[in-house]
Amino acid sequence: MVVSLYWRIFLLNTGVLALAVALLLGPVTVSTPVLFGEALVLLGGLVAMLVVNAVLLRVGLAPLARLNRAMATADLLKPGARPAVTGDGEVAALTQTFNAMLDRLEAERATSSGRVLTALEAERRRIAQELHDEIGQTLTAVLLQLKHAADRAPEPLRTDLHQAQETTRASLDEIRRIARRLRPGVLEELGLHSALRSLAAEFTTPRLGVTAHITPGLPHLDPATELVLYRVAQESLTNAARHSGATRVEVHLRSLPGGGTGLLVRDDGHGLGEAPEGAGIRGMRERALLIGAELLVGAGPHGGTQVRLDITDTTKATR
Ligand SMILES: Nc1ncnc2c1ncn2[C@@H]1O[C@H](COP(=O)(O)OP(=O)(O)OP(=O)(O)O)[C@@H](O)[C@H]1O
Ligand SMILES: [Mg+2]
Repeated sequence: MVVSLYWRIFLLNTGVLALAVALLLGPVTVSTPVLFGEALVLLGGLVAMLVVNAVLLRVGLAPLARLNRAMATADLLKPGARPAVTGDGEVAALTQTFNAMLDRLEAERATSSGRVLTALEAERRRIAQELHDEIGQTLTAVLLQLKHAADRAPEPLRTDLHQAQETTRASLDEIRRIARRLRPGVLEELGLHSALRSLAAEFTTPRLGVTAHITPGLPHLDPATELVLYRVAQESLTNAARHSGATRVEVHLRSLPGGGTGLLVRDDGHGLGEAPEGAGIRGMRERALLIGAELLVGAGPHGGTQVRLDITDTTKATR
């Protein structure tokens, strides 16, 4: 029989109070003024009643406290955690409803972040295209005009024009670099493996060595999954370069023991510490959710920071 929380608490209190009344009507007597012995019995009774009441309430309300904790710590970016449905009556029903609500919210979150990320990638593509086609072409034309002018200019002016040519060439390079970051064209042209290698080369500086280790013979992945892998590697490398103080970063693309493909970016820096997650890590989580992959950001086995993205065989793209 399912007894509601209300009736359980009511019946428990009724029992305790009935017992107190029965004792007062029966063996326990109270004189006026109260005798010392009687006062002791009354006080003892009161304490016993309060203790029994407190224990019973604690037991009765424990599932609610558990549910409360689960509600307070629920995080849609770390899906799958659900409070266990225990006990019976309203609390179990409440837990079930809460779990169903989380299922619904997680599904909606995955769909809407999928839409947002698709739109974001499309917008990046458009900006990259315009940077390349509009500003890139204009600067190329300026470069040619400067060259013509420099060829015909007298000496002191010629040096200045050569200087202007150099500056223009540098900003043309910069624009191409920005466009490449916005739209990983290399991903479409050469595939994920070359794109990751070129990413590693791009982040390599005299003070930071970035190496890419790619297991040969990995299964082919669909474009959406490849883009997620690429963006997660890009953000992890950006973080390692910006925050870690590392001298070495390794990017691994390998097959997972249980099947599937895993990306691992590991640096030898000072570690995450207590730093709260920012838009970068949250963005990686959103992308991982999008393809049903698991993302783990934490300390590496020998210090530093590691970002792991596990794409198992059961992983399905949701768009
Ligand atoms: N590889 C790392 N080594 C050390 N600390 C890190 C590393 N990656 C991230 N962090 C810490 O975690 C914080 C959150 O990173 P996150 O990428 O979410 O945000 P951000 O890099 O600060 O900003 P954004 O990525 O939005 O430009 C960082 O500010 C940094 O303190
Ligand atoms: Mg970041």
